[in-house]
Amino acid sequence: MSPRSHIRDAALLVEKSYLDGQLVEAADGNSLPVINPATGEWVASVPALGAAETRAAIAAADQAWEGWRGRPAADRANLLMRWHDLILQNEDDLATIMTLEQGKPLVEARGEVRYGASFVKWFAEEAVRAYGDVIPAPESDRRILVLKQSVGVSAAITPWNFPVAMITRKLAPALAAGCPTVVKPSELTPLSALALAVLAERAGVPKGVINVVTGLPSGIGGELTGNETVRKLSFTGSTEVGKILMAQCAGSVKRVSFELGGNAPFIVFDDADLDLAISGVLASKFRNGGQTCVCANRILVQSGIYERFAERLAAEAAKIVVGNGLDKGITMGPMISETAVGKIVRIVDDALAHGARMLTGSTTHNRLFVLPTVLTDATPEMSLAQEEIFGPVAPLFRFGSEEEAIAIANATPFGLAAYFYTNDLRRSWRVAEQLEFGMVGLNTGSVSVEAAPFGGIKQSGLGREGSMYGIDEYLEIKAFHVGGLSRRAIGGL
Ligand code: SIN
Repeated sequence: MSPRSHIRDAALLVEKSYLDGQLVEAADGNSLPVINPATGEWVASVPALGAAETRAAIAAADQAWEGWRGRPAADRANLLMRWHDLILQNEDDLATIMTLEQGKPLVEARGEVRYGASFVKWFAEEAVRAYGDVIPAPESDRRILVLKQSVGVSAAITPWNFPVAMITRKLAPALAAGCPTVVKPSELTPLSALALAVLAERAGVPKGVINVVTGLPSGIGGELTGNETVRKLSFTGSTEVGKILMAQCAGSVKRVSFELGGNAPFIVFDDADLDLAISGVLASKFRNGGQTCVCANRILVQSGIYERFAERLAAEAAKIVVGNGLDKGITMGPMISETAVGKIVRIVDDALAHGARMLTGSTTHNRLFVLPTVLTDATPEMSLAQEEIFGPVAPLFRFGSEEEAIAIANATPFGLAAYFYTNDLRRSWRVAEQLEFGMVGLNTGSVSVEAAPFGGIKQSGLGREGSMYGIDEYLEIKAFHVGGLSRRAIGGL
């Protein structure tokens, strides 16, 4: 069955890049296949652009900047709202495209479309609230104003794990702030990005304001980081790649925001509500097959409930139905690639060799399908404690005291998300304040919502996405001094 037959509006399945309002091929005619990870079948091909086309996209964005930033904020807000509405109206097609290229079950893909749309609505509402300030001046004949102005052309490099939401979380604040953007989606999942661009055009977003360059990072990344016209780069991906991009951006002192790797602790104290903790860890660990930066990576369980928690978690994990995300009843899709599967197998083998016990799961895999795996007796020396697993493997560590749990949790160079479960109010504050992470969930396994700042500390990144803070990443602060006023001015604000 052709991939197009799954999609109602065939115009949303685009096999060209989107540049200055035009659908274009690569100048040299090169293309890249998009492969369904569940079946290994070809879904579509997209152009493999290089530096020259990326330069053209940047030039188009630059050309669009004056008109876009010059529009009243309310106009930009209205266009974003229209885009939001179209995303929701096309939820089924967007979700199907996402499942075809990324593999997550349709029900999760639909959830991601709504999650992605929520950023567009949020920043449509923020566009009209990018307030400046007036500062009391040292002299009575001067006023000092703070103007917030758009940074300029921005670039977004986005990952394959959330092909819609990671784009809207960057594009929506950029557009709200008046910054035309060049998006480089993951070469594994470019189709969702292109479908979003088509919908933005239908909403009335002018040409050049959104550009989607498809292709390999090697051809595109260097231009995005090196080109002086690009004033800001936002990247979601690994810490390793983030460091390289940061060094490349240093040459033109670009503003950067990075959402990088995590190693999330998920701490369950003896006094926790067990049902709540089990549903929280299932949501956090197995969402998107464990392929998120905020997934529970190290599950720390206090001795008093360790055995009960392990048994319950293993029983629930065994109920997860693995398969092709387009099929009915599937609750977990394939991993994204053979490299991802290889890493998971290596990490599980290492844990078993060092004394971990498998309560459910398997050490083998069927193509890109991996079974949800629960391991007990995990220790900090194992690879799974030090690396981001990025797969459906839940290792349980045992701890005795609160101090021990905090010490283990913080013993990582990463600082993205952390979770803990307790019913003790005083402990809640103590632990929340001591965890060295950008996001902390108490009695919840989810910290992903458009209204809250998303981002990490330490080597998990810089800057925040979503929330009232997200738009600041795309705004410059200009101090405007107004002098020579009447000496008799009353000196107020
Ligand atoms: C990520 O994995 O990078 C983002 C996850 C989320 O938004 O919840």
